[in-house]
Amino acid sequence: EQPQLLAGKTITITAGPTREAIDPVRFISNHSSGKMGYALAEAALLLGAKVNLISGPVTIKAPTGVNLINIESAEQLLNESLNYAPRSDAFIGCAAVADYRAATVAAQKMKKQGDELTLTLVKNPDVIAHVANLQQNRPYTVGFAAETQNVANYAKGKLKNKNLDMICANDVSQSDLGFNADNNALTLYWHNEQLELPTNSKTAIALTVIQQLAQRI
Ligand code: C5P
Repeated sequence: EQPQLLAGKTITITAGPTREAIDPVRFISNHSSGKMGYALAEAALLLGAKVNLISGPVTIKAPTGVNLINIESAEQLLNESLNYAPRSDAFIGCAAVADYRAATVAAQKMKKQGDELTLTLVKNPDVIAHVANLQQNRPYTVGFAAETQNVANYAKGKLKNKNLDMICANDVSQSDLGFNADNNALTLYWHNEQLELPTNSKTAIALTVIQQLAQRI
């Protein structure tokens, strides 16, 4: 039984990949498993929070007691995030949002053509930046940064540029950590502080992240 540090608080968490349609049967996506976001949801529940989990398509089960909101595309993720964030004490963006989507979604299945096919992609909205820039009822906003190099610099850059309160950075160049893995190692950054969380299960890491968050909201 954990101390109920988040009793009376509402936490909204995004998790998993987004899926960007190309035509009725095809999409662009990524390998995000949702494990980290779901572990954060579980940890927040353990500490007594009310949890909204806005999730892309994943194969894992949502923890009992969360309000699960299923989305597919980044645009749907943005809509739901802007719906729940202003009613939340904290917003954690753990989803691996596709940076681009197809400029046009074909209404019918695309037919094979020549030897080359060019797809035009357009940039997706930055969901967490929209949340962090809410002018009213802005929640404490926590991002993730998965990097393969210069982890500290890129993470601190995102903390600032996206106007976040806290960012959790991980090195995804190690295949046993981060994306799709059961373990993770994070460095947490605030504007004037940082904390190393050495390799541990996503469950243990998530509990520490949520305890750190609980001290600040
Ligand atoms: O810029 P980058 O994608 O590395 O930033 C990662 C952080 O931003 C994560 O918290 C992720 O959930 C969020 N993000 C987002 N919308 C995007 C891209 C990233 O909310 N379009």
